[in-house]
Amino acid sequence: MKVLCYGVRDVEKAIFEEVNKKFNFDMTLVPNYVKTKEDVMLAKGYDCVILRGNCWANKENLDLFKEFGVEYVLTRTVGVDHIDVAYAKENGFKTAFVPGYSPNAIAELAVTLGMTLLRNVAYTANKTSKKDFTVDAQMFSKEIRNCTVGVVGIGRIGLTSATLFKGLGANVLAYDAFKKEGVDHICTQVELDELIAKSDIITLHCPFIKENGKVVTKDFVSKMKDGAILINTARGELQDLDAIIEGLESGKISAAGLDVIEGESAFFFKNLENQNIADARVEKLVSMYPKVLITPHMGSYTDEAVLNMVETSFENLKEYIETGKCKNEIIG
Ligand SMILES: NC(=O)c1ccc[n+]([C@@H]2O[C@H](COP(=O)([O-])OP(=O)(O)OC[C@H]3O[C@@H](n4cnc5c(N)ncnc54)[C@H](O)[C@@H]3O)[C@@H](O)[C@H]2O)c1
Repeated sequence: MKVLCYGVRDVEKAIFEEVNKKFNFDMTLVPNYVKTKEDVMLAKGYDCVILRGNCWANKENLDLFKEFGVEYVLTRTVGVDHIDVAYAKENGFKTAFVPGYSPNAIAELAVTLGMTLLRNVAYTANKTSKKDFTVDAQMFSKEIRNCTVGVVGIGRIGLTSATLFKGLGANVLAYDAFKKEGVDHICTQVELDELIAKSDIITLHCPFIKENGKVVTKDFVSKMKDGAILINTARGELQDLDAIIEGLESGKISAAGLDVIEGESAFFFKNLENQNIADARVEKLVSMYPKVLITPHMGSYTDEAVLNMVETSFENLKEYIETGKCKNEIIG
């Protein structure tokens, strides 16, 4: 079984090689995403391709994969937006995805952003990097045990975040669209308005559902506690950037930590130093550092998360080979 893994970053190679010791696939790792025809051409002679986000399995590329004899189009991601699933199925490809991976990867980033902003670490380090070692009023901080943290969405990641914040001593409130059982030892479930009004740090961990619209709106911001911190490691579409900028400018929001921004594919994963970002709102947010910390959708960029994604992808392929079926087949 010849397997071509696209979009493999140098730091991930050792993980792929270690996992493959169990499977013994004839595996090739390439850094290329599937974007150009040259990228697709690399699949010539392979039975299986393993994709990640931004590896476009559109009609054109799937036609080429088919011509080259590829049978399995797997993705090591949860999202499958980069695959034309209906067309892949029509053309007889076997597909699979990864239903989940280490929730701690994203939860730890949310906690880190929250604590960094609460303790004004970026602000302070920015000053000391210029050899200004004075201590000023901006560095004064509340301790997390004296804070209330509001977690919006207590699924896998949100509940992990809640657990971590609870472990640090915070009072944790949670709101989920569906009330959860068995979580009372970690958080107190309340209505969204109560969570917004009482939280010193709000962290989003719910999915973006188009029909439900944005979660962080002008109304949401207006109900926030004065000087609260907003963290979003979930989905950029959940937040109205104008509302957040207005909130930051007025001081209603003291700081924001964002791992996701709507339209992020236009600028994330690119070096745009000395260039303008087309979206003026993003340009504005960038300029608000260290009050605003932006990380480029790197929540899942950890050893454990990558290990989970690679292991599950290889298990998916093994299951297809042994049974002709796969429990993680992508349902189009
Ligand atoms: N930053 C990253 O790298 C990264 C990586 C993986 C996932 N994510 C994002 O993290 C989020 C959570 O993922 P998960 O694996 O925990 O999902 P999950 O399905 O386990 O949990 C989501 C929870 O949100 C609840 N929910 C749905 N709509 C809601 C709403 N409007 N308000 C409140 N709660 C709502 C659901 O009932 C569920 O309990 C998703 O948006 C996902 O896309 C980000």
